[in-house]
Amino acid sequence: MVLPAESHAITILGIETSCDETAAAVVVRAPDGSGTIASNIIRSQWAEHAAYGGVVPEIAARAHLACLDTIIEQALRDADRKLSDVDAIAATAGPGLIGGLMVGLTVAKAMAIATSKPLLAINHLEAHALTVGLTDQLKPPYLLLLVSGGHTQTVLVEAVGRYKRLGSTIDDALGEAFDKTAKLLGLEAPGGPAVERMAERGDPAAFAFPRPMRGRPEPHFSFAGLKTAVRRTAQELVPLSDSTVSDLCASFEAAVCDCVVDRCERALADARAHLGERPALVVAGGVAANKRLRRALQVHADNAGVRLVVPPPRLCADNAAMVAWAAGERLARGMLHDGLAQSARARWPLDELADPVLGAGQKGAKA
Ligand code: KG4
Ligand code: ZN
Repeated sequence: MVLPAESHAITILGIETSCDETAAAVVVRAPDGSGTIASNIIRSQWAEHAAYGGVVPEIAARAHLACLDTIIEQALRDADRKLSDVDAIAATAGPGLIGGLMVGLTVAKAMAIATSKPLLAINHLEAHALTVGLTDQLKPPYLLLLVSGGHTQTVLVEAVGRYKRLGSTIDDALGEAFDKTAKLLGLEAPGGPAVERMAERGDPAAFAFPRPMRGRPEPHFSFAGLKTAVRRTAQELVPLSDSTVSDLCASFEAAVCDCVVDRCERALADARAHLGERPALVVAGGVAANKRLRRALQVHADNAGVRLVVPPPRLCADNAAMVAWAAGERLARGMLHDGLAQSARARWPLDELADPVLGAGQKGAKA
């Protein structure tokens, strides 16, 4: 295996199959540490899962298998590259749905063996965490708020490969709360964008929903009680008119914003102690696309005098450019471990030393 040196541009092919997006991308990392996306192909599986109201793991794995080769070919074609032009191959190895992870990682291993190129097995959460290096040239240290369908965490990103988890959810992830709320209100999946669309015409003060964990000294999140409060209120108001659904969605979003801002305020206190006076606040994950949440966090960041950095929505949600980029950041620092020896991991905490939070389940923290 020949390792690309720090003085050369590195071209990486990234593969992402941890949930319901089949994605491949080609990213070039320049010696000055900047990155360029040469291609970024994302195929969402929503049509396959729609009838079931959520992601079915077996269907997801089969759907990845059915199209991954085509998606990789398209990524290389769009980037105007041949496989031989690529310096390294990277695939998400966890955390996520094990069947899909195995599909992506196995394809990446086969390609690495066939071409004698290095393989990097990437932690999906690290890929989210480092995306701002690609989009905004922002390098660690910074405070990360990761809000996706599977995760809700605040993390001190001290350096590439050095993460300290501060808070995590004790029940539902924030994206999960959006998805479940959408379902109970009869909105189509994926729930986050559906709730957001309805909320645009609603009154955020129409219903006084709870703000779980707000003001609590421990750094964690909780959203299950909020979702249940929406369910109870909705049941009392049946049959629901469109304007009532809009009010419920807007009030739900308002409660979410209050909770998230409060938890970020709590995390910023820790971040200041560990990272210095004005750590940037970075937001990643699919829920970071939510406009009300972005506005609320911007107001909070302005008041706190910290810089808020949120990648564009297409790079907040799952994609393979972030996987390729994380691999480039590792390669440039000589952090190459043998990806061929790495198995897919359904659970793979970013901070392996963090205590599991209450509600993380018997198998320990997912992430
Ligand atoms: O990061 P992501 O694409 O996949 C995971 O790693 O989970 O996040 C998907 C989650 C879903 O729960 C989806 O409903 C939510 O992000 N989401 C949103 C919005 N767009 C996507 N939630 C709120 N508002 C949005 N605009
Ligand atoms: Zn994700």
